[in-house]
Amino acid sequence: MQTVPSAGPKLARVPGRNPYSALPNWLYPALVAVTLTAFALYSAWVVFGNSGGRFGPYLSPFYSPEITLRLGGFLVPPALWVAWAPLAFRATCYYYRKAYFRSFFWHPRSCAVPEPRSHGGNYRGETGFWALNNLHRFALYAITVQMAFLWFDALAQFYYQGAFRVGLGSLLMIVNVVCLSGYTFGCHALRHLAGGRSDCFSCSRVRFRLWKGVTVLNVRHDRWAWVSLFTVLGTDLYIRLLVLGVLPHAPWA
Ligand code: FES
Repeated sequence: MQTVPSAGPKLARVPGRNPYSALPNWLYPALVAVTLTAFALYSAWVVFGNSGGRFGPYLSPFYSPEITLRLGGFLVPPALWVAWAPLAFRATCYYYRKAYFRSFFWHPRSCAVPEPRSHGGNYRGETGFWALNNLHRFALYAITVQMAFLWFDALAQFYYQGAFRVGLGSLLMIVNVVCLSGYTFGCHALRHLAGGRSDCFSCSRVRFRLWKGVTVLNVRHDRWAWVSLFTVLGTDLYIRLLVLGVLPHAPWA
């Protein structure tokens, strides 16, 4: 008579498939990890390896607002005054948190998926160092100020050397600031500020309308997060190629 081996106290590991996608399970986290790593490396190079991002009327989003400060003859990298705000904002964003916890740490890998053995099968939430993610609302305040500078730059570049002009950089800067606005003003924390802690929407039509407006953007917050990341990259890259002389002519000439 054949005996059936006991599974013991451990649960059997059953390979699962994502019911919402026909793509392999590893593809999305791998894309997230590769894209975020590449963007982080490019950003570090822009911040620490370059001393400016202006070409004529165009200003890279990494340098808005433009601050030039020398300490003891040493030029503080101008992008350093700017980069901390979007870094804090994106690193603590509810969507990006989900994306990088799942992609880089597998901790947790997904909803209702067991933790890897390396984590002891125990998800403790965002505790310890990760409790800093609760400061997201303050990053939102900082980035809102920065958005005002970005909108000013995007509109001011149309008027250069006493004349109205439009170039490819104009288009990129406008698209970038629109996408960044879509991302920023669809923020979960902003949605809570607009309509949270309210038991009575009809008591404040202003708050209700604001909440509805934020919700429209919030529904696709993940898409805005990615699109705006690429528009920042594309806008800076275009202006940087002009600054470095790789693109040969002034586009407004
Ligand atoms: Fe993503 Fe606030 S939750 S920007």
